[in-house]
Amino acid sequence: PIRACLFDLDGVLVDTAKYHYLAWKRLAEELGFNFTEQDNERLKGVSRMASLDILLEVGGVTLDDETKLALADKKNSWYVDYISHMDESEILPGALTFLKELKASGTLVALGSASKNAMTILNNTNMVTYFDAIIDGTKTASAKPDPEVFLLGAKELNVSPSECVVFEDAEAGIEAAIRAGMRSIGVGSRDTLGRADEVVSSLQEMSVSRLMDIFPAR
Ligand code: BG6
Ligand code: MG
Repeated sequence: PIRACLFDLDGVLVDTAKYHYLAWKRLAEELGFNFTEQDNERLKGVSRMASLDILLEVGGVTLDDETKLALADKKNSWYVDYISHMDESEILPGALTFLKELKASGTLVALGSASKNAMTILNNTNMVTYFDAIIDGTKTASAKPDPEVFLLGAKELNVSPSECVVFEDAEAGIEAAIRAGMRSIGVGSRDTLGRADEVVSSLQEMSVSRLMDIFPAR
């Protein structure tokens, strides 16, 4: 049976992808090239430094490690500024209702995010209380598609991976769930998330009874 739900943050619970994009685009413009929304798809779920490498590849730019660290810091300072203005209105449709219903049903809930800014976002949107465990980019050594973030979540919740369902909007996140030995539900498009056990277009489609239908207890 399913005992726990593990949620990605950016793009699943909150609409922060637009802020990541704005900050990366601003950096690309400073470096003298254009960065499109389509290019940005490749950064979803990917760690900050790996995102910078993809951005520089798009721009055809090669830089030393020290410069790269400085640029990543710059991007992050813009991003932190954008998310400092966030509030509950930026929680994605259906997320709060589903989190509340899970809590009421006794299902455990964890966060599994690559972001080092996850706590700021959870605090600003008043979501901290919904989580029984919070694993973010400050607690992990390896980024998705490595399963570390989800395995740590299961460990902290004291459940086995086979009892967990991961909600993810990124291909790398679905891959991480599969490698962790967990079930997964993609939130977004079937084109990129086809490897998940099920794909929904938003958490508005989710409920505890839908979860039971998708993963019947045997
Ligand atoms: C993921 C986002 O959740 O976190 C990525 O999907 C982002 O776009 C990554 O790069 C790391 O986030 P941060 O806040 O630590 O730069
Ligand atoms: Mg995401």
